Amino acid sequence: MEIINDIPSLRARLKREPYVVFVPTMGNLHEGHMSLIRIAERKAGCLVASIFVNRLQFELTEDFDQYPRTLVHDCRLLENYSVDVLFVPDEKSICPVRQEFLLELPPVANTLEGESRPGFFRGVVTLVLKLFNLVQPQVAIFGKKDYQQLQIMREMVRQLNLSIEIVEGEIARAPDGLALSSRNRYLSDEERAEAANLYQVLSKIKQEIEIGNRNFQELQENARAILVSHGWKVDYVVIRQRDTLVPVQVDDRDLIVLGAAQLGRTRLIDNLEMSIGI
Ligand code: PAF
Repeated sequence: MEIINDIPSLRARLKREPYVVFVPTMGNLHEGHMSLIRIAERKAGCLVASIFVNRLQFELTEDFDQYPRTLVHDCRLLENYSVDVLFVPDEKSICPVRQEFLLELPPVANTLEGESRPGFFRGVVTLVLKLFNLVQPQVAIFGKKDYQQLQIMREMVRQLNLSIEIVEGEIARAPDGLALSSRNRYLSDEERAEAANLYQVLSKIKQEIEIGNRNFQELQENARAILVSHGWKVDYVVIRQRDTLVPVQVDDRDLIVLGAAQLGRTRLIDNLEMSIGI
């Protein structure tokens, strides 16, 4: 694995690669990222991963400074896989001047995470588009844990005519169901024991819907009430149409339940997809 920190070396290294498969990350890698790397390996191209903690997607009040930076550990993990290039740029090369060019995002970016974290998706999209321009991949892999981000990536590629295949990776979970996330390391032991409840309430909604319950409002409210009674500060627990993330209608078949809630100082998100028979 070749570690590259600057843009000229990256361009030189990738210039003659006909098929580049790209996994962008913010580091602090865990099994969730590794599952994306394994998908990338199966694509059998030049495998490029990146690690960059993207200031543009953090609000001033968020955890940019505290965000775990664990490059040595990350490299050790990646050495077990056939990663060809690890791109670890510094901020000056990615944003040499104040970022004033910004994209207007589609409606799917204004709901859920976009509502709770204004500016978040604009920051993500701006950075990912820069990385796409630098790496010029044929394939890019994104995890379903950030489901809305994945949908926005699909929309970006479609609407900006990028010739990049967006491939999705399943959510990696701990044995108790908690979705793996770099932010899980912020949880105290007590919070960690409680954290899987987010997955539990989403699973309960999925089960109810799959046995025919269509009282979506009540399902959402019950889930929220359970989390609140367990000490969570809930941003949203919602059942949405899976592709567009618009509120669900009674005759929709492909659904997703998404939740975001804060336990102590840690904000966690999760989701579960479901298809219902007619
Ligand atoms: O999903 C992430 O880790 C980040 O949002 C991404 C796509 C690497 C952009 O910073």
